[in-house]
Amino acid sequence: MISLRLLDQEYPFEGFDHVRFVARGIVMDSHGNVALHLLHRNDAFCDQTYYETPGGGVDEGESYVEAFARECKEELGADVDILLCLGEVEDAYNLIKRKNINRFFLAKVRSLGEPHFASKGDTLIQKTEWLPLEEAIAKMKAQDDRLVAGLVKRRELPMLEEVKRLRDAHRISYPGEPTHHGTLPLETKRLLLRRFEEADAEMMFANWSGDPDVTEFLEWPAHADVGVTRSVVTVWSKKYGDPTFYQWIIVKKENNEAIGSISVIHSDFDAVEIGYCIAKKEWNKHYTSEALEALLAYFFDNVNVSRVFGKTDVMNERGQAVMKNVGMAFKQTVPHGGFNQRGVCDVNVFEISKAEYQSRK
Ligand SMILES: CC(C)(COP(=O)(O)OP(=O)(O)OC[C@H]1O[C@@H](n2cnc3c(N)ncnc32)[C@H](O)[C@@H]1OP(=O)(O)O)[C@@H](O)C(=O)NCCC(=O)NCCS
Repeated sequence: MISLRLLDQEYPFEGFDHVRFVARGIVMDSHGNVALHLLHRNDAFCDQTYYETPGGGVDEGESYVEAFARECKEELGADVDILLCLGEVEDAYNLIKRKNINRFFLAKVRSLGEPHFASKGDTLIQKTEWLPLEEAIAKMKAQDDRLVAGLVKRRELPMLEEVKRLRDAHRISYPGEPTHHGTLPLETKRLLLRRFEEADAEMMFANWSGDPDVTEFLEWPAHADVGVTRSVVTVWSKKYGDPTFYQWIIVKKENNEAIGSISVIHSDFDAVEIGYCIAKKEWNKHYTSEALEALLAYFFDNVNVSRVFGKTDVMNERGQAVMKNVGMAFKQTVPHGGFNQRGVCDVNVFEISKAEYQSRK
């Protein structure tokens, strides 16, 4: 629980003549996006545009929880389930001699309708934005440090960051979040994608892990001998119990030959980054595109992630062509965004969202 006591150093202090009890919080929708109001005020306080979380004063006879649920209904049109209390912030508006006791909650949207603004403060709301948590944090961080915008920022940024901390530690969930199942077997027309087994090390070394042409654009160097490959496979074998661990060996059905691997290199909260490599003798036979298609179906239809992305050296035409083949779109070039056996490199990022994937089907 966060407990903060903040002074108003923006306006001169001439004592308090009233206290306002406020219920406020982070409201998360079924995509994990959170609501931020964009407010504009031009009054004795300031002429500023700034973000603020939903919420407002507790009415006579109301509890904090009841007040927050009512505010969500009024300001967002949302029926919410309140999950937990994030903490309390005591802050002040010296200009109106007011001390605020703000209790912050985290809530999930159960259903969303039309807002109907009810209080005077609501007239300041220009619009409400539903933003990915990281984006909401970035917007709050970028907010002006002065005057009301600064007061709000000091009060609310710690709450947004706390929600991110809880979310990243899987201490909270939201409807529609990914359910990780780990490396389950997948099958395509020509391929079988399955977990690595210790016995695969020899073929992996012979076909790709020992080949510097394959690892040229990869972070790891070609294995010096099969012993290195064996230890890597042993480590992976032990990780398969982790439902967020995805590492498939790609096997040709026609002759049971292992020809490469495809994996999740990094997973964000609701997105996965994929990577792949294939034995050189099998390049340009559309095997990797076929395997990646199977992964897209698995991650969107089964695991329910929001995005699949990949990145590779701008020079790696083959690696990029695979992502284009399956409908992943170029997003951006990140200068010095990666490294591989050629050194530090600029990388191109490709991505497909669940909505794009579904509209393509
Ligand atoms: C990248 C890699 C996995 C591709 O495997 P693959 O099974 O040959 O891939 P696919 O056959 O499905 O697709 C390859 C595409 O690259 C295209 N391609 C091949 N050489 C190319 C070149 N020099 N320039 C542009 N495109 C090229 C092919 O035409 C093909 O596209 P198409 O199907 O539209 O014709 C393989 O080359 C590899 O293992 N490279 C080394 C490891 C690596 O770079 N991994 C990517 C890092 S994430």
